[in-house]
Amino acid sequence: MSQLPTHHVFPSPADASEALASEIGDLVSRRASEGRHAVLGLATGSTPIRLYAELVRLHRQGLSFSNVITFNLDEYLGIGRDHPESYWKFMHSHLFDHIDISRENIHIPDGSISPDSLEDYCDSYERKITSTGGIDLQVLGIGRNGHIGFNEPGALPDLTTHVTELNPVTIRDAANSFGGSENVPSRAITMGVKTILEARRVVLLAFGHAKAEIVQRALTPGITTEVPATYLQLHGDSAYFLDEEAAARLD
Ligand code: GLP
Repeated sequence: MSQLPTHHVFPSPADASEALASEIGDLVSRRASEGRHAVLGLATGSTPIRLYAELVRLHRQGLSFSNVITFNLDEYLGIGRDHPESYWKFMHSHLFDHIDISRENIHIPDGSISPDSLEDYCDSYERKITSTGGIDLQVLGIGRNGHIGFNEPGALPDLTTHVTELNPVTIRDAANSFGGSENVPSRAITMGVKTILEARRVVLLAFGHAKAEIVQRALTPGITTEVPATYLQLHGDSAYFLDEEAAARLD
């Protein structure tokens, strides 16, 4: 059965980010009051930066992340934690270095795993997610080609965490930060569409004109491997938090 994700249009990216931070804050506090963990799936890219700044602000106002477990969606393959473009670095500089999360509760795929252990590594990443009881809330961005995590056009819906080849559009979009497309890794480790769909709630953030066309396509009824974000139409509790520019082509 498929159903379109709900979408909420906010006046600005800051408003959308505040709304999602507040939803996450409520989840984390509710779980803490029950003596339970909250399990968050986290994304990288420029889009969630304001969300993380907002979570840091909530922490400074008293929200504790000591009961939080996180799993990041993806990581470039062939680069180590210390690479300036690693998602490990990104997550620590935007979020983890500024909140009281236990280091052992942070999970980010390791891009420096040797080729012969990759399959086992991906399986163990997936098992760790399952062993926590599963992801309560998965944050997503969207690539201009409709990718979620690094599930690129053509991605099948039944894959769990795996190694994938990056799409030319993704490589082009990452070229600036890597100082040229020739420096962008060609492969990545990513949670699969199946992993993402197993999260209890999914919220996709998209901001700016450049995302308007793909958001319109992703929110048009019809699931296609060519636009992996359309797989969210198979999820019972998914939402798009958009600014007005990203929502410009919606009715
Ligand atoms: C990368 C990440 C995705 C992210 C996408 C969009 O490819 N792997 O998870 O959604 O970029 O990035 P941005 O938010 O910068 O547009």
